[in-house]
Amino acid sequence: MNFSKCGPLRGEVTVPGDKSVSHRSVMFGSIAQGTTEIHNFLQGADCLSTISCFLKMGIDIENKGETVLVHGKGMHGLKKPDTILDCGNSGTTMRLISGILAAQDFTVTLTGDDSIQKRPMERIAKPLSQMGANIRSIQENGCAPLEIIGSSLHGIHYPSPVASAQVKSAILLAGLYADGETYVTEPYVSRDHTERMLSCFGADVRTEDTTARIRPADELYGQKILVPGDISSAAYFIAAGLILPGSEILLRNVGINPTRDGILRVCRAMGADLTLLNENHDSKEPTADILVRSCCLHGADIGGSVIPALIDELPVIAAMACFAEGETVIRDAAELKVKESNRIEVMVRNLTAMGADVRETEDGMVIQGQKPLHGAVIDSRLDHRIAMTFAVVSCLAEGETEIMGAECVNISYPGFYEDLERLKR
Ligand code: S3P
Repeated sequence: MNFSKCGPLRGEVTVPGDKSVSHRSVMFGSIAQGTTEIHNFLQGADCLSTISCFLKMGIDIENKGETVLVHGKGMHGLKKPDTILDCGNSGTTMRLISGILAAQDFTVTLTGDDSIQKRPMERIAKPLSQMGANIRSIQENGCAPLEIIGSSLHGIHYPSPVASAQVKSAILLAGLYADGETYVTEPYVSRDHTERMLSCFGADVRTEDTTARIRPADELYGQKILVPGDISSAAYFIAAGLILPGSEILLRNVGINPTRDGILRVCRAMGADLTLLNENHDSKEPTADILVRSCCLHGADIGGSVIPALIDELPVIAAMACFAEGETVIRDAAELKVKESNRIEVMVRNLTAMGADVRETEDGMVIQGQKPLHGAVIDSRLDHRIAMTFAVVSCLAEGETEIMGAECVNISYPGFYEDLERLKR
């Protein structure tokens, strides 16, 4: 797909529902009693993978578009699927479901696409095994396909070496079925959607500093869930609106959970003009409209506890830093190497091809801003966040940019290019 330089972006966008919240609403709804009614569900390929896995385990799920109804069968109502469970490109599906499957009374095999078969699953297999799970990488390479033989589990206290909500959530979900309390302590707090949503479903889950604790549950109860707009999807318009002179964009109903709002904090530290309107803290997941106006940005030092709160936004933040004055350092972000692609390597390679001054480090990147950028051929490696990032960069680069594999945005944001085009008019 080809893109070229454009003028200011103006108008409103309502980004699709949050990916993390959408996944969890189907998972928790499936193991709850009664019906879970989900509004603004993200109809992206990743969340559809989650639906397809639970359909295969006998859950009746009505996907009506904006609304999804999950007719849960309770904590012990899943049935053994007739086939392998295909998680597609979705790490969240594979890692969180593993926590649930570890405790069932059947055996399953989980697999997915080429990208997910290269991503580390040892990080969940290790703590789940400590809880008594029987989980193995079939090719013994620490990756999917995984075979999980359901077992009885016991609670543990797990000091996680990584701040990962997928790891934390897999352990907490297994903890629902364990015979004692389960604790997970992280180096920094990762996104807490699991804790927030599970407590609405009736689970006894608490957090203190960087430790989450869960007690075993007898039953969970179906809920009505309003999925907020995904701040990770809004990030492309936040970045584009800030760096394209003359732009003004209003982003409607965006989730501003404090474990996800790192991009807002970093943009402000870079001098951004961002205003939150209509803040709503009535439900478990707070939302706001975000007004973005272009301005002059300066470089920043991005590392430490903010990293988990903006991990998926780092590609577009790195792109934004190319248009900021001075140096931006991204550190403590080695996790980027094990996302849908190696996002450090892919960002450095593609930004360099466009003329940027960017250097790869062990755990991030160093960017010298304000070098003039030109169009190039971008290999997205079928990573949705890379494709969307370079659609943004193309708005400011001289000449044409071709993004290979551009359609992969359907993973998290079907309709992304249409929304971007509308703002150009
Ligand atoms: C997610 C957690 C993050 C994030 C991913 C979604 C989740 O992954 O990158 O896109 O929904 O829990 P990690 O847990 O691997 O950091």
